[in-house]
Amino acid sequence: MTLFTPLTLRDVTLRNRIAVSPMCQYSAGDGLANDWHLVHLGKFAQGGAGLVFTEAAAVSRIGRITHGDLGIWSDEHAAALARITGFLRAHGAASGIQLGHAGRKASMQRPWEGNAALTGAEFAAGDMAWPTLAPSALPVDDGWLVPRAMTIDDIAQTVADFASAARRADWCGFDVAEIHAAHGYLLASFLSPVSNKRDDAYGGSRENRARALFETVDAVRAVWPEQKPLFVRISSVDGSPDGWSLDDSVWLAGELKTRGVDVVDCSSGGISGSATAAKRAAPEPGFQVPYAERIRRETGMKTQAVGLIFEPAQAEAIVASGQADIVALGREMLTDPNWPLHAADALGADTAFATWPKQYGWWLDKRRQLVGR
Ligand SMILES: Cc1cc2nc3c(=O)[nH]c(=O)nc-3n(C[C@H](O)[C@H](O)[C@H](O)COP(=O)(O)O)c2cc1C
Repeated sequence: MTLFTPLTLRDVTLRNRIAVSPMCQYSAGDGLANDWHLVHLGKFAQGGAGLVFTEAAAVSRIGRITHGDLGIWSDEHAAALARITGFLRAHGAASGIQLGHAGRKASMQRPWEGNAALTGAEFAAGDMAWPTLAPSALPVDDGWLVPRAMTIDDIAQTVADFASAARRADWCGFDVAEIHAAHGYLLASFLSPVSNKRDDAYGGSRENRARALFETVDAVRAVWPEQKPLFVRISSVDGSPDGWSLDDSVWLAGELKTRGVDVVDCSSGGISGSATAAKRAAPEPGFQVPYAERIRRETGMKTQAVGLIFEPAQAEAIVASGQADIVALGREMLTDPNWPLHAADALGADTAFATWPKQYGWWLDKRRQLVGR
């Protein structure tokens, strides 16, 4: 098995094992995708990725992190996304949508505007704050908004919102849906004992803390077509010593397998701050890969590895050694959207530009024959 071996999940075949990791662009207007999203995601399909994920698309307006987040809470949102899936398909990539709810990490500034609670400056520009929801009324940290503890009806409504979003995502033509249960957002905050202090059926024991996620998975799987794969992104460890552990994630992956989940996407962190900023001091390349490896080995669940994967040989080794079935790249794809095509060249899977878009490949092959580069 190599990075360039296709992978079939249910009726969807990825042309290789390389995914573009979900990355918020904070560039939507009231949740609607626009030309930025088409070009941003489209270039990864042209660049040879097997699977291109959208950023977290909010299942409800209050489920957005910022005013710029993508959303899929209405048919208008779905229509705006449909031309993106069409473009990705036309260029050989499978399309994935990440479905999310920010929970207690909602109502924030865009990162480059401060990455904190909204202030008077944003209010003056019309970006008002909104009430946030969480399993318990506990803020992420000092200076964060205090969320409202969700009622049973709130939980049922949110589960229904995920299902409606999945139905729309199918209508849009997405091949893969991923439920976002990582990085301290709503579903992750139910899993972790750090943020979930409930004493009802959704809190306390590990089974109870996983109930909101299980109900979401069941509701999504019921409307997401049988032929299409379902992923769940988790924080394999949530970043707190008293929080969600890798043993918990191994247990969870086994449970998700019985509920029709096809791939667990193994990220980490974020329960008490930003996951992307990865509070650990200078983590080493591939630092989350061991999570994907252990979950895969102990449960038989397919895994997606992510985090500081830079080099083609590194990605190849992850797949070839069976640590994960798919590697997802985030920031490295931002530096080079053609990363998969360059990796195919470096690893000898395509040294003749045959898998490049024909508009480019013919010329590049001629140039190499002529001047050797
Ligand atoms: C700009 C940006 C936005 C991100 N948005 C999301 C997101 O919407 N959903 C998510 O699960 N992870 C998100 N992440 C995390 C990435 O998917 C990925 O897990 C992380 O960046 C580590 O991979 P990398 O080292 O290849 O960038 C984001 C990361 C970046 C840099």
